[in-house]
Amino acid sequence: MQLENTAALVTGGASGLGAATAKALAERGAKVFALDLKDGIDQAPEVAGVTYVAADVTDPEQVRTAVATAAGAGVPLRTVVNCAGIGPSMRILGKKGVHDLGLYAKVVQINLIGTFNVLALASEAIAETEADENGQRGVIVNTASIAAYDGQIGQAAYSSSKGGVVGLTLPAARDLAQYGIRVCTIAPGIVETPMLATVSEEFRTSLAAGVPFPRRLALPEEYAKLALAIVDHDYLNGETIRMDGALRMAPR
Ligand SMILES: NC(=O)c1ccc[n+]([C@@H]2O[C@H](COP(=O)([O-])OP(=O)(O)OC[C@H]3O[C@@H](n4cnc5c(N)ncnc54)[C@H](O)[C@@H]3O)[C@@H](O)[C@H]2O)c1
Repeated sequence: MQLENTAALVTGGASGLGAATAKALAERGAKVFALDLKDGIDQAPEVAGVTYVAADVTDPEQVRTAVATAAGAGVPLRTVVNCAGIGPSMRILGKKGVHDLGLYAKVVQINLIGTFNVLALASEAIAETEADENGQRGVIVNTASIAAYDGQIGQAAYSSSKGGVVGLTLPAARDLAQYGIRVCTIAPGIVETPMLATVSEEFRTSLAAGVPFPRRLALPEEYAKLALAIVDHDYLNGETIRMDGALRMAPR
């Protein structure tokens, strides 16, 4: 799919994977709208071709307004990349007692329901655009995690939310096929982003040592490259792609 003279919406666009993707899309000529929480945007750098839009992915009205901004940019909204997410960890039963239900609900609310909210509302706007010469109107890329498959100790909430994103991918592609909208999901392994900032250097090294090849953590730019490859490749649809250097995570 062509990116020049189109608009793109990237959630979580102020940091990490979303920021790298927003920059890469802008470099390819898209008019990029990076949706993020106000606090995230306040700390984000200025990037040529990227306009920040403050919204919470879990809030239907805020997302509707952000989508309208992207869709009203004078060029058709064609690309959506869902990167907003959080990754706290807590054991189901641990020293601090039973897993906090509010935390479980919050992770699912942001990572899964937020992704669905943006996907649904953005698809409505994309469906209203003129199709290209191949009958295509747009592509939506979601972000799961390899924790959807190999969730570690303490990742019950996170893995549940990401498993939901994997499960959403095929029915979303099927639902939206009639509008010429493709849906794919990327399941990254461990990527060097601010989400990993709290992890000690020692733990980071041990994480990298567990990756068969390349024996290092992934880079946000590698995620962006895959997101753009999905956008470019018209026959990729309804699939979740692992990007993990063959890493299969152990229980801890
Ligand atoms: N970094 C990794 O190793 C890794 C691995 C697998 C999957 N992921 C997934 O990739 C995505 C991006 O992660 P990252 O590492 O770039 O994290 P990050 O913390 O650098 O960026 C996430 C962004 O999402 C935003 N955000 C959080 N809640 C939001 C909300 N309710 N509404 C709008 N924006 C919100 C944050 O403000 C932040 O800017 C997440 O879904 C994460 O689960 C990351």
